Parts: sequence; C-alpha cells; structure tokens
Amino acid sequence: MKISFKNNLKNMEKEVLFVSVGPKNKDEIVKENGVRTLYLKCDEKMNLRKLFLLVRKMIIMAKGVKSEKLGFNFSDFKFKSIKLSDEELGELIGSQLDFANYEFVEYKTPTEEGFNFVKEVIISACPEHGRRGILKGQIIAEEVNKTRSLANTPGGDMTPQILARKAKEVVKNLPVKVTILGEKEMKKQNMRAILSVGRGSDEESKFIIMEYFGGKKNEKPIVLVGKGVTFDTGGINLKPSNGLAGMNMDMSGGAAVIHTLALVAKMKLKKNVIGLIPSIENMPSGKSYRPGDVIRSMSGKTIEVLNTDAEGRIILADALTYSQKYNPEVVIDIATLTGAVLIALGERASGIFTEDDKLSKMMEKIGEETGEYLWRLPLWEEYENDIKGTLGDWANANNKGNSYGGASVAAVFLHQFIKAKAEGEKAPKWVHLDIASRMTSIVGENLSQGALGSPVRLLYRFIEKNY
Ligand code: BES
Ligand code: MN
Ligand code: ZN
Repeated sequence: MKISFKNNLKNMEKEVLFVSVGPKNKDEIVKENGVRTLYLKCDEKMNLRKLFLLVRKMIIMAKGVKSEKLGFNFSDFKFKSIKLSDEELGELIGSQLDFANYEFVEYKTPTEEGFNFVKEVIISACPEHGRRGILKGQIIAEEVNKTRSLANTPGGDMTPQILARKAKEVVKNLPVKVTILGEKEMKKQNMRAILSVGRGSDEESKFIIMEYFGGKKNEKPIVLVGKGVTFDTGGINLKPSNGLAGMNMDMSGGAAVIHTLALVAKMKLKKNVIGLIPSIENMPSGKSYRPGDVIRSMSGKTIEVLNTDAEGRIILADALTYSQKYNPEVVIDIATLTGAVLIALGERASGIFTEDDKLSKMMEKIGEETGEYLWRLPLWEEYENDIKGTLGDWANANNKGNSYGGASVAAVFLHQFIKAKAEGEKAPKWVHLDIASRMTSIVGENLSQGALGSPVRLLYRFIEKNY
C-alpha cells in the first residue's frame, strides 16, 4: 500500500474515501456532492486496544465499498487518553493499515476488477516523526504479513524442505547466515527427538539455523526457537476430523522466527540474534513413532511417548538443547503447542511461561504496546509430577491420562530441556510462548481470516528495546 502525505485533504480527488473520526459518528459511509466520507465511530473512552481496531476498521470499511484510496488526518487518531509519541502513533498506524489490508489470495482467481485491496492512503497534517513511524510500521507489517503467508500456505505446499528454502530466500540479501541440517546431519548431532517425530512422513525433516550477528562479538545472543510442524495430523494418535483443519499452520512459531530475523537484519539492529526451527511433518504411517516408544533426546534425557499428537514439545526438546551451544543471554521459544491454552485463555492472548518475573513483566508490557497480548500461566515444579515417566525420564503427555492444565504441563516438559545440566552450572533465561491461541484471527478483529503472524511485532520490539 502506498502512503502519501498532503497538507490538507480539501479538494481531494473524488475516488478518495475521506475519514472523519468522532465519538458521535456511527461507522457509516455518506456520499455528499460526489464525495464519500466514512464517519468512523471512536469510543468515548479510547484506549490503545481500541485504537488498533479503529485504525484497521478504516481499511475494512474501504474494502467493503471497494474504495482503493483512503484519506484521513493524522491528528484524528491522537487521543488524550492514549500516551503515544508521534513516532509511536505513526508506527501503529503504518503497521495496522497494512496488517488489515492483507488477504491471502495466492490460490484465488482474481475477478476482472482484480483483488479488493486499498492501494493508496493519503494522510494529512502528519508531523515529521509521525511519517518516520509510519514508514517503520510498514516495514514491520510487511514481515508480519509474510509470516501470515507462510502459515496460510497449504501443508502440501509448505513441507519442511520448502520452509527451509523460504528461510534462505527471505534473508537472501541480508546479513543472516542460514544453515539447514537434513536428517543425516541431525543424526550426527544426536537429534533423535526431532528425527523420531518426523519419521512417519515421506518429507525429510529439517533443522533450520539462522544467525545474525549485528551486535558486539562477545555479546551473548538472543535465541529464538520456533515450532515448525508443517502439518500436524496427530500421527498414530490421529486427530479427529474437526481437529485437523488449520493444522497446516502448526509452523506458525517457526514462520514468526524466520521473519523476525529478517526484520531485525533489515532494521540493522545492533544485536546478536539466532533463530532455530525444528521442522517436521507429523504423519501416521508404517514408519511412524508409536505411543509407548522411548526416545533418547539430544540432551541424553529420555522421552516416553504417551501421545504422538504431543509432538511439538518433543521436537522443541532437541532445539532447546541445541540452543545452549550459543551460550545465550535468553532463549525464547514460540509454539502453537497446546489446545489447552485456548481453553484457558480463549483466542485473545498467548500464554507466557517463565521463571523470570522481570522478563515476564517486560514482555507482557510489550505485548500491550504491540497488541500481541500475553497472559502468564504457571510453570511450577509441582507440574513435573504429571509428566514423570514410567519407562523413560519424562512423559510427553499427562501420565494420568487427563488434560488438566495442559498448557502448563507442556511448558514444564520443555523446561526439563533448558535446565542446567550439572550442579553449579547456570541455566539460561528462558521464556516459552504458547501461541496456539493466537494462531488465527478472530471475527471482529478487523483482519482477514487465517493466520495472524503473531508474535513478530512482540519479538521485534523486545529485541529492539530491551536487550
Ligand atoms: N498443534 C497442536 C496444538 C494446537 C491445537 C494448535 C489447536 C493450534 C490449535 C499440538 O501439537 C497438539 O496436538 N497438542 C495436543 C497435546 C495433547 C495430545 C497432550 C492438544 O493440545 O490436544
Ligand atoms: Mn499435535
Ligand atoms: Zn502440533
């Protein structure tokens, strides 16, 4: 979408949909003297959460009447009750406009008029800092939308191999080194947890490594680990029909990591950031791993498979072990890990799990600022009782067969693979984000259906601001 700046919106071309914001309006488009105006209703008590939706609504309304041009006053979106600098407001506006304009049309046949997108937005009375923010917001939205496209792509066209190729393509002209481990290389690294889960599929499993060293040489890196299950059938514990839809998006965490690295490199952040994505397809076949199998993971700890549908935590176990090669400052894993987090939080927040109160608060705050809402859930040691193995060290699902507190149970499983190995050794700081609840958009959010591209904006701002 092209954004242009004008001093005022008077004498605008006829095809521009002019926006007027006010608490007394009622979201309607009125045609007066051939000029269309969108009277956008804002809340009497505006807050940041509502502002995200309001900016996006302009696009949805414009699309509704097939208007390709939109015009508004920057100052219409300044509210006394919302403390944002011009640059911050610009970033919000720039990112949310493109975010709302996105639709996954790769597989659709265009009508004669083409697809229905807003092509140009004209903003008047925009201060210099606002403009800068808008441009930055647009760069961010581009990566978020590309994340959505990776996730929206059907499973047959987004195999581990294709995901790995995309990771390379995405950072082709950027200073990010991408290394892909195939099954042979993973065997050498003893990554048996990943290999076991991927065994049932005809598609080769991959381990994607992305390295960006924009910071000082001796500065410990931030390691991002993303779940890259390109399709999750559940394996031998096959999902029921209604559980299969959308499981092509089970690589959303991996996609977010890929595009966060691209964004960090594009913006030339002076940080060291590593991305690790274990990528497999979880399929039932004669070669599949079975319930009851015991896998010796890369860490040496054994995993007793109680349910082949709890595959994410198994592949993440090896990735978390691998992450420790980097002597990381902090490890953040991002995964569409459990249906249980949806039960706990609904579709409106991701679960955050960490032992580090400071980190949690920091991320929750950035979550509010970016619209990537987080809610903390327990990571208490007591939950370990639920995953003590009978034959192996740790069971990959609740050992009493229930699904109580499933999001915390999964998180505590992951924790076992980040803990210090020896007495006196220090474990790195670690945050687990269960984004199953924010995998797709919800009605009323003023976004197209499908993948949400979460939490690229959260991760980016975290890296940019605080570490
Ligand atoms: N990928 C799913 C979790 C999921 C569910 C993501 C719905 C997005 C929407 C994960 O691999 C899974 O199947 N988890 C199981 C774990 C259970 C078997 C312990 C679940 O949540 O049911
Ligand atoms: Mn699963
Ligand atoms: Zn899964």
